[in-house]
Amino acid sequence: MKRTLSGIQPSGQLHIGNYFGMMQPMLSRMENSELYAFIVDLHAMTSVHDRDRLATGTLEAATDFLALGLDPEKCLFWVQSDVPEVCELAWLLSTVTPMGLLERCHSYKDKVAKGLAASHGLFAYPVLMAADILLYQAEVVPVGKDQKQHVEVTRDIAISFNHTFGETFVLPEAAISESTAIVPGLDGQKMSKSYGNTIPLFLEDKELRKRVMAVQTDCTPVEEAKNPDTCNLYALLKLFAPPEKLAEVRSLYLKGGAAYGYLKQDLFALICDYFAAAKTRKKELLANQDYIRQILRQGADKARAKASSTLDLARDRVGLKY
Ligand code: ADP
Ligand code: TRP
Repeated sequence: MKRTLSGIQPSGQLHIGNYFGMMQPMLSRMENSELYAFIVDLHAMTSVHDRDRLATGTLEAATDFLALGLDPEKCLFWVQSDVPEVCELAWLLSTVTPMGLLERCHSYKDKVAKGLAASHGLFAYPVLMAADILLYQAEVVPVGKDQKQHVEVTRDIAISFNHTFGETFVLPEAAISESTAIVPGLDGQKMSKSYGNTIPLFLEDKELRKRVMAVQTDCTPVEEAKNPDTCNLYALLKLFAPPEKLAEVRSLYLKGGAAYGYLKQDLFALICDYFAAAKTRKKELLANQDYIRQILRQGADKARAKASSTLDLARDRVGLKY
């Protein structure tokens, strides 16, 4: 069984890009992996400086993950900051992390270009992420394509540490599924909380319909043939439609007759169906927040036991034990 780990920031409403890029791949590995799932609240602090938003967002992200089917009996599930060992390991790692490695990270440059403050925390974000992964000696890290570089940086940092201080860390690999590597948003760019182009997972039907109707399409008349492979409405349908339905839609695109308005209606219905059970489950969980807090505390206790044994080894390797 491979040790598999991934985290998600509680920095806004979770959306279908997060679901297909990270959550679904984690859920699908629940039965045959040693699974580690966590809510990365320390990372979210690089963009959220509002006490209530961070605290509520953390509990809500945890609720969402459980509502979608994460079973705390079959994985370790916790909140990052409940295992403070991660911050100490991040410091040890930062002493063998070349500046140039971090300067090359796209995510930092993109976020600063979009107006996020260029703080030290944002710059050092990949080192904390490396600590997240290496602290648990994870082998597989399911993520969307935008996180690929961060997992590669983690490998580089681990190699550098192992080279400097002796074999300590397992080298992790990103697991990225081709078909869901980049889920497009309403405007066809990557769906992202920071682009305001998302379809959140748990919207009420009325709001959800509005979002789906806002998926941008071109102005080709209905009867004209269209290329499905360059259409973001089709890319979204592909995620939800069963194969026969998708084949039907594809042939309408190719032959002419694909009416965007009707297809959006289909997409809306498919999304409603897909998440119906999770929505019900979320309502039940929201009524029992103490249960969620308890699951997270128990998860943190178990995660902490693993974390301290790796940190102990790393401390010994560098000479912090005398
Ligand atoms: P966002 O860009 O919305 O802030 P996060 O950075 O919190 O999303 O990403 C959480 C997880 O979801 C990561 O593994 C990321 O790669 C994945 N993810 C985010 N957006 C997408 C997308 N549009 N397509 C595929 N995966 C995505
Ligand atoms: N950087 C990831 C994101 O924005 C979140 C994250 C933090 C993560 N630590 C991690 C993902 C460790 C995988 C493994 O989505």
